[in-house]
Parts: sequence; C-alpha cells; structure tokens
Amino acid sequence: MTSLQAAKKLAAHLAVDKHIITGNLVGIGSGSTVIFAVERLAERLVIKHKLPLTDLDVNPKLDVCIDGADEVDSNLNLIKGGGGCLLQEKIVASCSQQLIIIADYTKNSKKLGDQYKKGIPIEVVPMAYVPIQNKIEKEYGGKVELRMAVSKAGPVVTDNGNFILDWKEFKQDVNWNQINTQLLLIPGVVETGLFIEMAAKAYFGLSDGNLVGIG
Ligand code: 5RP
Repeated sequence: MTSLQAAKKLAAHLAVDKHIITGNLVGIGSGSTVIFAVERLAERLVIKHKLPLTDLDVNPKLDVCIDGADEVDSNLNLIKGGGGCLLQEKIVASCSQQLIIIADYTKNSKKLGDQYKKGIPIEVVPMAYVPIQNKIEKEYGGKVELRMAVSKAGPVVTDNGNFILDWKEFKQDVNWNQINTQLLLIPGVVETGLFIEMAAKAYFGLSDGNLVGIG
C-alpha cells in the first residue's frame, strides 16, 4: 500500500469509528477514499448482520454521510465531482445530519484552487453546455472545459445523463456561497461540485501515519 493509500485509509477508519454507531443510517459517497470507509463499516457490521442497503425514498433522513473530496478549504468548503459524481452525492449529503469528509493530506488547502487544479465540476444539461461555458467565462473569468472521456471518444456522461464542465483558473478570493447560488441559477446548470457550508468535519490522513481533523 502506498503512503497516499495509507493516508486515505487512516482518515476513513477514524471517521467510521468515531462517527458511526449501531443503528445509524449512513450515506456513502464515492471515490477511492470512501472504499476504505465501506470496508471498515463492513468489518464492523457484516460480522453480526448483513450490511443493509436502502434508498432515500424509504429512508430520506440519514444520520451521517461519509464522503471523499477533491479539495477542502480551511472553512470546510469543498470541491467534489472529480470522479464524475456530484449530484447524487450532494443529494445524499443534504439528507444527512452530518457530512464527514475523509481524505488524504493532498486535499487539505487554505483556499479552493490552491491544491486541486482540475477545476470545479459543474453538471449541466447537454444541450446547454456551450451557452453555460460562455456565460461563466464572461461573468466570472477563468476557463470552462467540457470533460471528455479518457478514450476521447466523446464527453463524459454522468449517472444522470448530463455533461460535466470543469471551471479552471477561477478567482480564489470570492464569496463561494454567492457564486454557487448564482451558478445554480443559470438555466441548464443541474448542480455544482461546490459543497459550501455542508461538511461538519474533515479528516486528513498524513504520510507519517498521523491524522489531522478540521471542524
Ligand atoms: C467523486 C468525488 C470523490 O469523492 C472525490 O473525487 C475524491 O475521490 P478520492 O477519494 O478517490 O480522492 O467527488 O466525484
């Protein structure tokens, strides 16, 4: 296991051990860090019970959501969606009393954009991607790129049938709450990877085997 994987695992195990108690309804995000959290949950639960899965239409209120992030700033604002999932993750997080972020040390940053250079993901309705690109670049600056599949055969299509725009080289000294609200008002924008004032706590595994937490 590399030191980065070990750091992800540390943060994931601590979050599960500290924040999940028997009987909790738990939301789970996606990514390589969350896999360690699921393994830990399984270790703890599967021995006695089967790990039960549910849906938000059956259980719309969750106790805790555990998820990874691409970047976390010192105010616990997040960039998520680097792996292409952001809408469903934001829905699950919004249904949870607490959102706990688990990450390795490379995700810990003072300002959004300091560490993660792949941009802020924005999920959009396919027919609107060009007008949205133009509008964001004109009004807020930076560069907005359509995310392409690794094969370059075409754009990435999300689980919800949408495209993803990655907003790069944005200004950093801005009111993220305000910008997020404004982006969501653009017709065709479905959701953004900005998770503002949603996370209660973030744990970062370090390369030396220690952990730091914020929140
Ligand atoms: C997926 C996400 C992930 O949570 C984020 O990309 C972090 O992933 P990882 O734990 O693999 O670094 O938002 O779209």
